[in-house]
Amino acid sequence: MTLIARSRESFDENWFFHKGDIHIPYAVKGGMTGGLTDCAKREEGEWLDIAYVDKEAQQAQEGWDAVRLPHDWCPDGSFINDPTMGSRAGSHGYLHAGVGFYRKLFTIPADQLGRKISLCFDGVTGRSTLWVNGHLIGERFGGYTSFAYDITDVLRYGSEGDNIVLVKVDATDYEGWWYEGSGIYRHVWLQSTDSLHIAQWGTFITAIEVSESHAAVKIETKMMNESASNRAFDLITIVRERAGGRKVAEQADRSSVDGLDETTVGQKLTIIEPELWSPEHPYLYEAVTELYENGVLIDQFDTSFGISTIQFDVDRGFLLNGNVYPIKGTCNHQDFAGVGVAMPRALIAYKLSLLKEMGCNAYRSAHHPPSPELLELCDELGLLVMDENRKLDSSSRGMDELKSMILRDRNHPSVILWSLENEEVLEGTVMGARILKSMTELAHKLDPTRPTMAAMNHGWSSGGYADAVDIVGYNYGHRGADVDGRRKYPNRLIIGSESSSYTTTRGIYADDPNKGYCSSHGTNIPSWGCSPEKSWSDVMEHPYLTGIFVWTGFDYRGEPTPYEWPCISSHFGMMDTCGFPKDVYYLMKALWTEEPLVHLLPHWNWPELIGQTIRVTAYTNCDSIELFLNGRSLGERIVKPHRSMDFDIAYEPGELKAVGKIGGVIAAEGKRVTTGKPHAIRLEPNRTVIQADGLDVAAVRVSIVDEKGNVVPYADSHVDFYVEGSGALIGVGNGNPSSHESDKASSRRAFNGLALALLQAGANAGSITLKAVSAGLQSADAIIEVG
Ligand code: GAL
Repeated sequence: MTLIARSRESFDENWFFHKGDIHIPYAVKGGMTGGLTDCAKREEGEWLDIAYVDKEAQQAQEGWDAVRLPHDWCPDGSFINDPTMGSRAGSHGYLHAGVGFYRKLFTIPADQLGRKISLCFDGVTGRSTLWVNGHLIGERFGGYTSFAYDITDVLRYGSEGDNIVLVKVDATDYEGWWYEGSGIYRHVWLQSTDSLHIAQWGTFITAIEVSESHAAVKIETKMMNESASNRAFDLITIVRERAGGRKVAEQADRSSVDGLDETTVGQKLTIIEPELWSPEHPYLYEAVTELYENGVLIDQFDTSFGISTIQFDVDRGFLLNGNVYPIKGTCNHQDFAGVGVAMPRALIAYKLSLLKEMGCNAYRSAHHPPSPELLELCDELGLLVMDENRKLDSSSRGMDELKSMILRDRNHPSVILWSLENEEVLEGTVMGARILKSMTELAHKLDPTRPTMAAMNHGWSSGGYADAVDIVGYNYGHRGADVDGRRKYPNRLIIGSESSSYTTTRGIYADDPNKGYCSSHGTNIPSWGCSPEKSWSDVMEHPYLTGIFVWTGFDYRGEPTPYEWPCISSHFGMMDTCGFPKDVYYLMKALWTEEPLVHLLPHWNWPELIGQTIRVTAYTNCDSIELFLNGRSLGERIVKPHRSMDFDIAYEPGELKAVGKIGGVIAAEGKRVTTGKPHAIRLEPNRTVIQADGLDVAAVRVSIVDEKGNVVPYADSHVDFYVEGSGALIGVGNGNPSSHESDKASSRRAFNGLALALLQAGANAGSITLKAVSAGLQSADAIIEVG
């Protein structure tokens, strides 16, 4: 750690992890858990060894594995169907969660003495407890918010010795009904500041007047004085364009703050001819806040922000920068194949880019605050965000969670809404309304610029519940919004906070309860669900509905509705857990993008059905489509806007083609061909060059193809992976919602022709070679440059 104004270093490396509980008594004296004396150690027993040990002992401890954060221990385990073993269908996806411990030795240089040192956690599952050098520092319940602990006084500086941090993570309980993972699953940071410093999440930037010619930007900066003396300071804020760094505004102010107190400095800057932020033009500025004392820079903090206006209108729906902007959203949980919830930034970026390619312009972080990285990426890549609080709770703990979400996230231009709850049992009751109103009041105080919302599924008409938020979220409620919302409450602001729940399994065309598969024709959707085309055509017909958030963009572990064990993952996604598109992905793309497309389902390998009638569905945004079976026209049909089309066709192997026309001119073509047998493996990395930072990731699509290179739609070949060079295989997957194969293995079966391998860069430049081998198939190599 070098002595600069502020340092914030990654604290992700060199941890040891132990799975299982260890009894640690509650500290009766400060530092008791530190085993300060041999006597205390003898009296208190072996547990002291993990809270306070010398370096050699630390390395040698049995039952402790070296890990790097982010870390989710669930995917390392086996699937079990036994709640008494701590395995739950929803929250744990039938994997064992339980309790785990993390510890790490670290040193703090002597020159840090006198500074304020904190450990900042982006997110830890469930209940966590932190000890530093045996001092019980804090406990936390709530796996989705970020938090920090001041550890200044209990550190050993320089020659005083090494430091040890111990974190207990108890993930036995659950906060949600989806897969939550287990562990320190987001980043940890070690931060050092002067005792006079900008507070945690201490800047708040809002554009108060926005026009083509200028934007007035209000910047509030909260200063903490953690020393006993009064301090005078100069605060300089410089606004730059993020790309290129051109300075566009600057303001300096002088102020002071009493000892052990805080103060907020307000500044107003003008940006001439501002570039507005939108998903199509995610233009970012950066405010660099500099704090000087007696002319010496003592703190510096950079806040990325964007300039835009948002408005919800009772008739026109959502307006972004003054223009009607229908929300094409997806709800998402945070996990992915291969890694669980320990998501490398590159994989979050990959998920978001896949959503954008589908035409999605908004992300609902269901049902909890996302990682800081996700919001940074939504700002950069361009996605609106419904930022969601975990639950309806106005207790001091609940309000603290809400507060930490809003303070942390309120500078992100991507965030347009604070969703305060999802489908709570107290919806529609007077007590629920009281709680919700308190939460709205807090949200308004912390951020007067964004509306609050609650994602309701029944409570929109009673108890005054809907009046407690600015915007009423209708989960599966387009019909409800139509009937109750519009007629009874013509002035109500409405949004389709959740819809569809269209359960399909990639590459499957018949429901199979035994295997836990749902047909891609959507014949096994839950009673509350509907096809996304129904949800979207509602929005197109009734703009006041504002938009929809389809449940979900991706399949996720847990919640295997409509099945249970042995099915272990959900079926709601437009894409599977690996990000491979299902057929319904193309329906969304047809509804949400202008790019002409025709997509046909099912696949065309049905040797047992020759001569029998097959239901073929076309997803298209063209005006008409003409089908050709082995070159013969089966006729042309006009397409109803926002609707799919069904055809009944007598099956014969060969080629089924659909030609789409717009204004009478051919605009797109979709095809299905009968493939040959599995012949070879094909590897397609999403990126062929990744950074040598020990973090970056390439996602490699593994396809089983026939001699002509067509993906064989039923192939389930077992593929072994061999990796050499400057990186490692960190996980595998195949999108099969009932697969009990481990995601942490070096092999995987394909599911309906596809599997996934995730390669993570090492810290040294070079290249990674992935070799994929399967009995009877031509093997394949992929090379990723690491630079
Ligand atoms: C909703 C709920 C989601 C998910 C979904 C499944 O009611 O908000 O979390 O459970 O149902 O259809």
